[in-house]
Amino acid sequence: NNPPWPAYRGYHEYSFAHETMGKRLPTILGKAIDDTMRTLNEEHEEGKIKDLLQCIERMTQLMDDLHSNATLRVIKDDGEGDVALWNKEIARFFKGKNFMNAPWLFAEAYKYRRLHECFSISTYWKDYDVFFRQKCDTFSRSSTAVFELSTRFADPFHHEAGANEEEKLKAAKLVFHELTQVCLWGNATDLSLLINMTEEDIKSLQSTGGEHLAETEKNILCNDLDKIWDHLHTVKGGRIDFVLDNAGFELYCDCVYADWLIQSGIANEIHFHGKRFAWFVSDVTHKDWSWLLNSMMYGSLFPNASDAELASLRAMAKRWKSYEQTGQWVYEQHPFWCTGYTFWSLPSEAPDLFQHLADSDLVIFKGDLNHRKLTYDCQAPSQTPFDVAIGPMSSEEGAPPVVSIRTIKSDVVVGVPEEVTKKLDKDEEGWRISGRYAFIGLSEGTKT
Ligand code: F6P
Ligand code: MG
Repeated sequence: NNPPWPAYRGYHEYSFAHETMGKRLPTILGKAIDDTMRTLNEEHEEGKIKDLLQCIERMTQLMDDLHSNATLRVIKDDGEGDVALWNKEIARFFKGKNFMNAPWLFAEAYKYRRLHECFSISTYWKDYDVFFRQKCDTFSRSSTAVFELSTRFADPFHHEAGANEEEKLKAAKLVFHELTQVCLWGNATDLSLLINMTEEDIKSLQSTGGEHLAETEKNILCNDLDKIWDHLHTVKGGRIDFVLDNAGFELYCDCVYADWLIQSGIANEIHFHGKRFAWFVSDVTHKDWSWLLNSMMYGSLFPNASDAELASLRAMAKRWKSYEQTGQWVYEQHPFWCTGYTFWSLPSEAPDLFQHLADSDLVIFKGDLNHRKLTYDCQAPSQTPFDVAIGPMSSEEGAPPVVSIRTIKSDVVVGVPEEVTKKLDKDEEGWRISGRYAFIGLSEGTKT
């Protein structure tokens, strides 16, 4: 069940794998240690302090393992539902492999799992999230785009008085195009790549205005927006799933989109799939989910905002919370999402999850990492059609329609004509990791 192309590995110096495994991961881990030290300095109970010191020791060991390119060892049994999956994969495929010669996707995920283990085997700090401060901080510095969206979308959607069915459909299609792109470019604020962002950097990444969207649409190298609309507008009161990526601003954009999917009548139920613990720096955990809704409702994150802006944010949070209460929005966190498996293995290694997703009318995978997992993170030629590149997730019996929405931040690119990628390779160094380009691809699945 593998694609015919080789997976990227840390020793491939021509790929982003090399820089990530050699430089970015140690930097990210160093920042995680700094965060934990800060917590240590704020703690007053001796038992907790001693326990946290041991977590820091384990992080230091992990840093040594990264620097010395150690052989990957099994994950300690901390009671998490994913331990068996991890150790099965290590024993079966990656025994004796190290950080640099194991497939990049696996080795990078393994590092985040080992980071979680530093805390999960402690007494008092099992759920500690070394990235939580960073995630909250970036959202609170995103005020311009946050209010741009809330002031426009807080009031319930309504059609122009007297609009006929055709006009209503046309208007719905326009909103669909705009909000899908808002949801796409929300993925640009991924904290694993953006260390030390200024307010200006954040603002330019998050511009959501119409003109800006029209200008950036040409950077969507594979663009199935029209096909997705053709599928979606036939769905009435259906179920849509979001396999989430990053917390804070991206999650906020996803929720604005999901809110419209409910109000438009397309969906009656949205399932959001998050991570069980801190993952690839900024991915959504349950704590991030609750934090977003509650800080929109009760927080004072934006001291310079006007009363009208704050009221719009609260109005939206109130509606979103009501969706949760009525069961229209459901937050879930299957252990499979935090393993090193690609989604080529989803049907076989997590058959319960696959069956669950199979009931959806559309599964939207957000972000670069999910895209790497869908496509096996391998060196597929760029003209490979998206549904071929995702293997069993498009061909397995019962496979639901799947969409991948991602700003391109790593090597793998599919669904794009060869001449386009060749030209970019020649003219624009670093285009595969800059996040300037994007992908919106649809696989129709096998359900009739
Ligand atoms: O470390 C590289 C990576 O795994 C890439 O997939 C991407 O650059 C980043 O981390 C995560 O991006 P995203 O949050 O969009 O999945
Ligand atoms: Mg992410």
